[in-house]
This record gives sequence, C-alpha cells and structure tokens, in this order.
Amino acid sequence: MKVLFVAAEASPFIKVGGLGDVIGSLPAALNKKGVDARVVLPLYSAIDRNKYNISFVKYIYVSLGWKQIYCGIFESEYKGIKFYFIDNEQYFSRYHTYGEPDDGERFAFFSKAAVEIMPHIDFKADLINANDWHAALSVVYLDQYRRDGYDFYKNMKSVISIHNVEFQGKFNPYLLGSLFGLGNEYLGALKFDNDINLLKGAIQLADRVNTVSENYANELLDPYFAFGLSPILSNERGKLRGIVNGIDYEKFDPASDVNISQEFSLDSLDQKIKNKLAFQKEMALEVSQDIPMVGMVTRLTGQKGIDLVVDAAEHIMNMGAQLVILGTGDPYFEDQLRNLENKRHDKMRSIIMFSNEISSKIYASSDIFLMPSKSEPCGLSQLIAMRYGSVPVVNRVGGLRDTVEPFDPTRMTGYGFTFESYNMYDMLDAVKRALDVYNLDQPTWKHIMKNAMGHDMTWDQSAKKYIEMYQEIL
Ligand code: GLC
Repeated sequence: MKVLFVAAEASPFIKVGGLGDVIGSLPAALNKKGVDARVVLPLYSAIDRNKYNISFVKYIYVSLGWKQIYCGIFESEYKGIKFYFIDNEQYFSRYHTYGEPDDGERFAFFSKAAVEIMPHIDFKADLINANDWHAALSVVYLDQYRRDGYDFYKNMKSVISIHNVEFQGKFNPYLLGSLFGLGNEYLGALKFDNDINLLKGAIQLADRVNTVSENYANELLDPYFAFGLSPILSNERGKLRGIVNGIDYEKFDPASDVNISQEFSLDSLDQKIKNKLAFQKEMALEVSQDIPMVGMVTRLTGQKGIDLVVDAAEHIMNMGAQLVILGTGDPYFEDQLRNLENKRHDKMRSIIMFSNEISSKIYASSDIFLMPSKSEPCGLSQLIAMRYGSVPVVNRVGGLRDTVEPFDPTRMTGYGFTFESYNMYDMLDAVKRALDVYNLDQPTWKHIMKNAMGHDMTWDQSAKKYIEMYQEIL
C-alpha cells in the first residue's frame, strides 16, 4: 500500500505544534507495518537543507489560476521515510511558517504541487492523506484530476485528517476561480456561510475524514466543539473516523534524553527525583524533594485553559505546590503569568519562551502535569508527561478523555486525575485530589506514576487502525 502524506509541517524538519510531531512519526510507524508512506512538505527557508541532506530532484511548473509557477522538487530520507519538499522562494522563503497574508495562495500552490509531483517522483500513491486546511486543497485537486479523466489519478483515493477544527482556511468566494483555479462546479463543496472554506471542501470530497482521537470525532458532531462545521460533519459522519495519536518513544525517552539532569526509566524510577532537585536549583526555587511540582508546557491560548490556570494559580501554590509554566502565545496571558511570578516568586516560574530543553526538564521534574484544555483534539503533552512519570491532571475533553484514565483507588488502576466541566473550582478539586495522594500516600503515588509510564502510548495500535481505514476505501 502506498500513501502520500501532505502536511504543512513535520518534525524534525519544521515543527510549529503537535501536527509536526504526528507527521514526523506516524509515517514511520506505518512503514514498519509494510506501508510505503512518504511525506510532502513545503521547503521553508527555515528548514536546514545541509543538516538533513536535502537534495534537488527536478523542477516542474504548476498552474494556479492564470499563473504558471515554478515548483522545485527536493528530497531527503529520514529514518527510512522519503520526504519530498516543494520549493518556491516567493512562497516559502518567509519569516513565518503560517500567518502570512497570502497563506491561501501559498498553501493552494503547495497542495496542488503535492498532487502534481507524483508522476515526476515516480510514486503513484494508492491514496493521499491530507492534513488540516493547509493541505485540504490536495483532496480537491485530486478530485478535479479524477473528473477530468487523468489516467494516473483515476483510482487514487483521499483522506483528510483534522488536527484542529478551529483552523479551516476561509477565503473570499471570488478567489475560487481566480486564485484557486477551480470551476463553479466546486462552489457547492467549498462554499460555507459566506466563505470558501477549504477544510469543509475536503470533508465533502474526501473518501474518509479522520481526526486524532475517537472522542474528538464524536465531539465534532456537537456545535460546542466544531467551530461551525458540526452540520457538515454530521452529514458526512459515515466516513468520519477517530484514531488517537501516539508519540515517538525514541524521541521522548527519559532513559536517553540528553536535556535532563538524570536519566531514568520505569525500572529506575527512584532516580527521577534528582531531576526535580536540579531543576528547583536551576530555577532558584526552594529545593526539596517533598514539595510537589506542578508543570505545564503549552501554547498560551484560550483553547489550552490558561484562563483557569491564571485564576487558580495562587490557590494551587497555597496548597503547597510549586508551579512552573513554559510557553508562548497570547500576550495577555504572557503578561498575566509574568505578573503572577512577580507576585509569588517563592513558588512560581513563568518561562515565556519555546525551548525543547526546558520542556524536557519540566516533564522529567514535575510530579503533576496540568492540562486543563477547553477543547483538545488529541493532545501530545499529556502523553509525553506520562512517559516521564509526571501524573496528568486534565479536563476530560477530546483526546484527553481517551488517553488519561482516571485513577481508581479501589482497583488501583488508571494514571491521572480528571475533571468534567470547564471551571476553576472543578480543576482545583482535581489538583487537590492529586496533591492529597502525593502528600499523604507516597506508595500509592508511585503506583500511579508506574501506571502512567507503563501505559502504551506508542503508534503501534493506531497505525493498525490507519491501515484498516485505508483498506476500507481501497
Ligand atoms: C493539534 C491539536 C492537538 C493534537 C495535535 C496533533 O495541535 O491541538 O490536540 O494532538 O494537533 O494531532
């Protein structure tokens, strides 16, 4: 089976968020099970061509609306997976990965090029798996080539994977023909409210619609979570699937992570504490193994529940815990967190930046990992935290519901503390329940940590489900 992933980011080449982690690891997991999975990315100027041995293959021209556009094709191999890169400096030699005023044109070109390069790289996919709105048009262009009767694309199928339905790619309808080069026969599929909505178009035209956890797939039918698309997804529910993300166990491994002070694993769990002691010292917090540390690694946005954290922070510290938060995002939240740190310098650190090194240290040092997201398609941080023996406290939405089993003291199963409705008091209650076990019953706490670390968060099971979904349509 041959699958072409089309996505705007993939670790290690370029990563903005969780999408990058997924596209950087799922294809390899599929490959292990015999799928010839390859990936197409834009060749952003931020990608280090030398470091990853990215080499030129050839160039073609891609037409978009009235333009004929240069499209360089580059390639590289990483961990046994072929990555192809679409080069055009005018579009991708930019300061930002996303958020440029002409994102519509940039990603339309990318999506079209991804489909058109296939005959030139001698790869005839059985299906393309497009990811998020940036790649959504590749589903639409594939549909167009099939309609136009191109033999090469005749039997090719498509899947659109939704990593976050909040971002849909909305544009003015007059761009349908002039910019995207699509005829009016596509207006029905792409038009939504008063926009051209690229994600909606792909949802209508793809053979399967997939999202990154089972529970989020259900939530997408609910107007509260679907940012307007619930009626569309409800109509298309027959082709909607939810497959939970895994993480790369080699990349996120406390037994070999060079960023942490002391390596440890399930078999040497007593070593983990050294990380907290070293990190407390580095952060100039009180150094003590008995003080519980609550950690967060997050984008500072409303979706991630930072408003609850800002309101609850002092209460958490008054319960005796230290609070360490790493992230960037909404300037309003950045300021709030800085203010809190100034006020409670005894117990809190707000590290307003992006840093792989510090995130590893937080995962390895914290006792509790707080993730009170308002909505969460899957979430990867809670999985990484669990791998590093930090016990998650989460709001039971989206993938957090599928991946964090609440601790059950009667059966001693589960590995997290959860709350069910999005408000500060319920969140505080969950934090308090966790802190009570930590403070009063260390043997049970160790048991919970072991449950978390032993939980299977590899791609293995999910890769099987992707293959089943692909087989359904082939
Ligand atoms: C997005 C979602 C996150 C998910 C990730 C990868 O970043 O917000 O929940 O884990 O994509 O699928």
